[in-house]
Amino acid sequence: MIAWQRQHGRHDLPWQNTRDPYRIWVSEIMLQQTQVATVIPYYQRFMAHFPSIASLAAADEEAVLTHWSGLGYYARARNLHAAARQIVARHQGVFPDTVEAIAALPGIGPSTAAAIAAFAFGVRGAILDGNVKRVLTRCFGIEGFPGDKAVEAKLWALAASLLPDADIERYTQGLMDLGATLCTRAQPRCDDCPLNEQCVARRDNRIAQLPTPKLKKTIPERETVMLILRRGDEVLLEKRPAQGIWGSLWSFPEVAPEVVLNSYLQSRFGIQAERVAQLPPLVHTFTHFRLTIRSLVVWVSKPDAAHPGTMWLDRIDAHGAALPTPVRRLLDLLD
Ligand code: ADE
Repeated sequence: MIAWQRQHGRHDLPWQNTRDPYRIWVSEIMLQQTQVATVIPYYQRFMAHFPSIASLAAADEEAVLTHWSGLGYYARARNLHAAARQIVARHQGVFPDTVEAIAALPGIGPSTAAAIAAFAFGVRGAILDGNVKRVLTRCFGIEGFPGDKAVEAKLWALAASLLPDADIERYTQGLMDLGATLCTRAQPRCDDCPLNEQCVARRDNRIAQLPTPKLKKTIPERETVMLILRRGDEVLLEKRPAQGIWGSLWSFPEVAPEVVLNSYLQSRFGIQAERVAQLPPLVHTFTHFRLTIRSLVVWVSKPDAAHPGTMWLDRIDAHGAALPTPVRRLLDLLD
């Protein structure tokens, strides 16, 4: 693995060739549910804006969310911010250097903690993310959904038993690189794999069956109606509650499908619709449900009194706000 990483692994990603735990930490969090190619520009902007733990801790949440806007899974950004503040409060601003202390920070699980400890401090510990689970279940022919407690425990023990005595950084990066570039879910490049002679899945022709998929449950469907209130080139944005989906991000006001538009506008904002148009429905898939967003563009003219938690923004400026991806897409649809 180590020799393969040296020759064929990834070496020039923006979070490599550093021992700075802060740079490594931010990258590992961004990479948790997001592809390398998507992460790179976000990572560079984020690091330019928040170059240190101290600067992240001192920022307000709104600024952090703005820099995360479009990456999704915003709890990652809120946890990152909370963890930076914890490091300042409890660790004198110095990133902790043991797997246990790192894993005690908000938003850092045992695998991410081990990866950070390996890359930043050379600490010898096992990682077990989705890519590593795929490599191990295939190489060792391990059956059962890797998210099941018993299967996961077996994989952790296996991962720990395989650790090299030295060069943990390169080994850890090699496991990640192998999973991301060769041992992919579909059409893995087994001919180029350094493990191909010992791989049980390859020997038994079970590559398409491993890792064992989760028993499929149908994903629940939800529907919402968003009101895009327009006043010339301005749109009304509303700050969402801190809890729930898109917590603390800016969105359009949402109403239940049965709400009568003019009564709602009158009672909430003291305004009437002048013209209404419908946008095509937009479907956004979350981990636990699928959301269909129907949206109405509603032109209003009467200037409103200031409503707490809302703001009128030019739709060009609105792009710079902390918006969930579907809201950004809807803005792009406006003429
Ligand atoms: N995915 C998670 N961590 C990574 C890393 N350090 N390099 C590339 N992809 C990754």
